[in-house]
Amino acid sequence: MKNIKKYLAIIIFLSIAGCSPVQEVNIYTSRHYDVDDILYAEFTKKTGIQVNVISGSGGALMERLKSEGKNSPGDVFFTVDAGNLANFQKGGFLQPITSQKIKDLVPEELRGVNDEWVAIAKRARVIFYNPESITQDEIDGITYEELSDEKWRGRVVIRSSSNMYNQSLVSSLISNLGEERTEQWAKGLVKNMARSPQGNDRSQLMAVANGVADLAIANTYYVGIMLSGKGGDEQQKAAEKLKVAFPNQNDRGAHVNISGGGILKYSPNKDNAEKFLEFLLSVEAQSHIVNNSFEYPVIETVQPHPIIDNLGEFKMDNTSVSDFGKYNPIAVKLMDRAGWK
Ligand SMILES: [Fe+2]
Repeated sequence: MKNIKKYLAIIIFLSIAGCSPVQEVNIYTSRHYDVDDILYAEFTKKTGIQVNVISGSGGALMERLKSEGKNSPGDVFFTVDAGNLANFQKGGFLQPITSQKIKDLVPEELRGVNDEWVAIAKRARVIFYNPESITQDEIDGITYEELSDEKWRGRVVIRSSSNMYNQSLVSSLISNLGEERTEQWAKGLVKNMARSPQGNDRSQLMAVANGVADLAIANTYYVGIMLSGKGGDEQQKAAEKLKVAFPNQNDRGAHVNISGGGILKYSPNKDNAEKFLEFLLSVEAQSHIVNNSFEYPVIETVQPHPIIDNLGEFKMDNTSVSDFGKYNPIAVKLMDRAGWK
């Protein structure tokens, strides 16, 4: 009799499990990294929660969310750059994250206002230079501010002002120096450009390796990808010619931005969405992220990829990444006034 009861219990449990809808989480993402697919698969393996991915540019996803309104199946928004996350927040597309685990893992300066989004990985936007055309004396103790000095006339390459990474860098300067000083700085920087902004971060690094300019501002993970050989021989050889300089090491530190995620406002699977973000902050997922995207980890128990570790230790700017969103509209106008194409 005891056994029959046990079997009955098992049968009832199995039939309930069989009838319940599939556990899922719907991820809206504008990240374009192959590593993410492996992460999604790993999450499903661990939790049984199916991951459905809707990818598109930030703008396209925003339009989609607008038209879906309260009926949106979207649970998580996952992207690069605090500026993009803040834009989604300003659009009212996110809701506060309540998981204490996430708040314990991610320091406050790496979270959005109201905890509506959090960092998953970090990237520094720093200087890469050609040691054959820049002396040690010139580069020692360099700051972002200094890049507007006349001594750098015609020696700097950086991508266009329409790029969010640059808008966030300028926003961080506004946060630290104020609008007026930052505008003067931007005007000086534009004068120092070796060419009108063109191409992505990798093109800037190639330009320095090819002697078009002496230094570039670019995100650290691009050099990681190039040095790893994943971008091909030409890029690897080019990156090997470059050295890194982390700006502002004697004051606030080098500018750091993030990849991150938030929970969409009308998320029908909020628990799964939090579980997914918690998973991205696990040792396992963080190791996977840093080893494939060459970003820096958010949690301290994980080491960056050896190539990135080799760039050296440096002081990171602790300016809150939520400021990048706060000052973005001012930054965009300021860059335009400065003539930054
Ligand atoms: Fe990028």
